[in-house]
Amino acid sequence: MNPHVRKNRELWDEWTEINVRSAFYDVAGWKATGRGLDPEVREALGDLTGASVLHLQCHFGLDTLRLAQLAAHVTGVDLSPRAIAHARALSAETGITARFIESDVYALPEVLGERFDVVFSSYGAIEWLPDLGRWAELVARYLKPGGRLVLVEGHPTMWMFDSDHPTELRVATTYFHGPQPIEILPTVGNYADPTAVVTAPAYSWIHDLAEIVTAVLGANLRLTALREYAHIVWKAFPFLVETAPGRWEQPPEQPRIPLMFALVATRPK
Ligand SMILES: C[S@@+](CC[C@H](N)C(=O)[O-])C[C@H]1O[C@@H](n2cnc3c(N)ncnc32)[C@H](O)[C@@H]1O
Repeated sequence: MNPHVRKNRELWDEWTEINVRSAFYDVAGWKATGRGLDPEVREALGDLTGASVLHLQCHFGLDTLRLAQLAAHVTGVDLSPRAIAHARALSAETGITARFIESDVYALPEVLGERFDVVFSSYGAIEWLPDLGRWAELVARYLKPGGRLVLVEGHPTMWMFDSDHPTELRVATTYFHGPQPIEILPTVGNYADPTAVVTAPAYSWIHDLAEIVTAVLGANLRLTALREYAHIVWKAFPFLVETAPGRWEQPPEQPRIPLMFALVATRPK
């Protein structure tokens, strides 16, 4: 295992315990209302009736269980033992059936051999992967001929801007990052809870849009949709305005940047 990915496993065990109790994920609200997948995700996924789905980097399984309500079989994979333990507990508690596998994405072929109609990943997933070319090869390996990759993510442009600036977009860093990880030292707060005490460092990799698309095309997948959104489904900057439940936009007087994208690519038959 990549040594930075190994360190990230400690981080994600810690973050999982924060996230599963957070208002950000609102597990209790989901249990009460059964709120489904975001419309952008539903549109990118298309019809899942009868489909087998592989959910990569499934975290503690909330979206995996939402997928399981639409598809025939869903398998969630995550690096974090704590995330997988919570996912299995949530599945047992709610009676929504899904299979969960604890694995580094890159080591998945050691434990999983079958193929799927859909490989899905979303929201803060690929930034934890050091090598997108290898990731795309793995995705292609897990797709049946005619199957599709569905990736819905924060837009790489967004990472250029200071996520703490209270009123407007301020460029904080470059759009282009090399292969070296960005190290974030232990701090108070994570994306789901600004008050949580975190003891593990984080290592992430910012992949620009050309790198993402090139990885997908390099794995011989055919790009069938690429959408950029001027809104996002979480409050990525303090000044974003919630214009509908779970839909965050820049104030109308500000110039817009893409905040989220959805990519669909098909494995040729
Ligand atoms: C931000 S979460 C994804 C959130 C998820 N889309 C959701 O809706 O809950 C990122 C997840 O990626 C997992 N992860 C990070 N690196 C990984 C790797 N190399 N292999 C598998 N999972 C990984 C983490 O454990 C974490 O659960």
